[in-house]
Amino acid sequence: MHLSQVDIKWVRNLKDVRLNPAPGINLIYGLNASGKTSLLEAIYLLSHGRSFRTSNIRSVIHAESNTLQVFAKVVQEQSGSCIHLGLEKGLSHNQIRINQQNVTQTSRLAAYLPVQIINPEAHRLLEQGPSQRRKFIDWGLFHVEQSFHETWQKYTRILKQRNAALRERKPGGNAKLWDKQLIEASEKLTELRRHYVQELTPYLQEYSQRLIQISPLVQYRQGWPQEASFETALLNSIEQDVHKGFTRYGPHRADLRITDNGQPVQEQFSRGQQKLLVSAMRLAQITHLRQQQAQQSVVLVDDLAAELDSSHRHRLVELLAESGAQLFITSTDASLFDTQAWASSKMFHVEHGQITEVI
Ligand SMILES: Nc1ncnc2c1ncn2[C@@H]1O[C@H](COP(=O)(O)OP(=O)(O)OP(=O)(O)O)[C@@H](O)[C@H]1O
Ligand SMILES: [Mg+2]
Repeated sequence: MHLSQVDIKWVRNLKDVRLNPAPGINLIYGLNASGKTSLLEAIYLLSHGRSFRTSNIRSVIHAESNTLQVFAKVVQEQSGSCIHLGLEKGLSHNQIRINQQNVTQTSRLAAYLPVQIINPEAHRLLEQGPSQRRKFIDWGLFHVEQSFHETWQKYTRILKQRNAALRERKPGGNAKLWDKQLIEASEKLTELRRHYVQELTPYLQEYSQRLIQISPLVQYRQGWPQEASFETALLNSIEQDVHKGFTRYGPHRADLRITDNGQPVQEQFSRGQQKLLVSAMRLAQITHLRQQQAQQSVVLVDDLAAELDSSHRHRLVELLAESGAQLFITSTDASLFDTQAWASSKMFHVEHGQITEVI
């Protein structure tokens, strides 16, 4: 799978641009504030339905417009077919079209277009709270395990109902009625996540080894005390849950713990090492996805040079290229790479929101 055409209207400073990227590596260069990150943001929007920078859509839409549009042609190499994806986002509306048909679920876009990002904020995946790491696990599961999305939706729905019952604050009252269903959904979700993390770990360790010469330990934290069953955890916690008005334990509190020599990596690694480890995590996912589903990913690398020395930069691009992903790499410096050495590559120059292919 790769993007063969991208049309962007009114995304930040990009008013109306068209790009016909290479299936392999696309190097996007230009001065500060020319529109490089905006281009990556547009591609990310088309897959995730939201920005990687902000939840405020107003700041993503060009100041002179009230809606933005991103359209793309996605070529599926295996079948030779071409899928047309379209997203329009306004201040209070969303419209998704797949092959000219209206679609309501954003997840349908993601299914056709798996997009990952590596940017200067990459370290946040390790340093910030567990929700980003849960999203990391769930991104991979969504793409490789058909039953995941439904399982996750079911768990989330029951959890919401239990929390609503807890907020009624009847001691031990209605909330307990949801426990059986919550436990059932939790078991399935936990099993899927555990299995996925187990499968992903050797990939992650290999890429970490190749990028930063470490082989971290990866543990899935289920979201309640390891030694207890979920049923017991819910039972022991019911008074506190009623007091707080929400469910304190469960897969919605799960986490991924990554350690090296017994210490959490985020407490000992430099920024550059963290960026490389997060890159190894993303590489692990896209390689696993390709091997399981024969599905290729798109990887957006914003400001590649940030935090990385030249030897690590080259190794990272080499591994990304080897993974078969379609790459969009931004840089302020066009001479960062010898694009001649790459089999399928294109270079684009960005200037004041205009994008031109450099031949
Ligand atoms: N909603 C908006 N409407 C119009 N212009 C915007 C909007 N949001 C941001 N911009 C402008 O778009 C320009 C491009 O920003 P972008 O982040 O894409 O630059 P960049 O090329 O990635 O720069 P850098 O190399 O500094 O990262 C900036 O000048 C920014 O002020
Ligand atoms: Mg930028």
